[in-house]
Amino acid sequence: MKNVITFGTFDVFHFGHARILERAKEHGDRLIVGVSTDNLNLKKKSRRPLYKQNERLHIINSLKSVDMAFYEESLEMKREYIIQHNAHTLVMGDDWKGKFDHLNDICDVVYLERTPSISTTEIIEIIRSQ
Ligand code: CTP
Repeated sequence: MKNVITFGTFDVFHFGHARILERAKEHGDRLIVGVSTDNLNLKKKSRRPLYKQNERLHIINSLKSVDMAFYEESLEMKREYIIQHNAHTLVMGDDWKGKFDHLNDICDVVYLERTPSISTTEIIEIIRSQ
């Protein structure tokens, strides 16, 4: 059984999110997703997500492509999470290309192309401007 792990905020769930999870799943048998907490996001993106962490976790857990989701509390704990969840492959969007190559000693690190022309930030901006 090959476990794949990936991480993200997945706020205002959109097509790009669905696609990366489906493609991540193709790299193994089980897909495990670290959903970043509201606090982590405040640090990372300097804003609170619109959807609360329990709502984002619930949505991710309800997807056909996802076998299990958990809270990612810290960006620095990727190594611990990979070991804890016995992941063979780490999938990240290519906005992170090269950033996680140091984890190559414990798993395969794969960067997948982002779906063009869509992001949570852009969706929020479009709604704000209308
Ligand atoms: N992702 C993707 N294609 C997109 C948007 C996101 O493949 N168009 C992927 C990211 O690479 C990441 C995961 O979805 O692996 C979660 O990304 P997240 O940062 O939560 O979504 P964004 O839409 O990029 O959010 P934001 O605009 O707030 O940065």
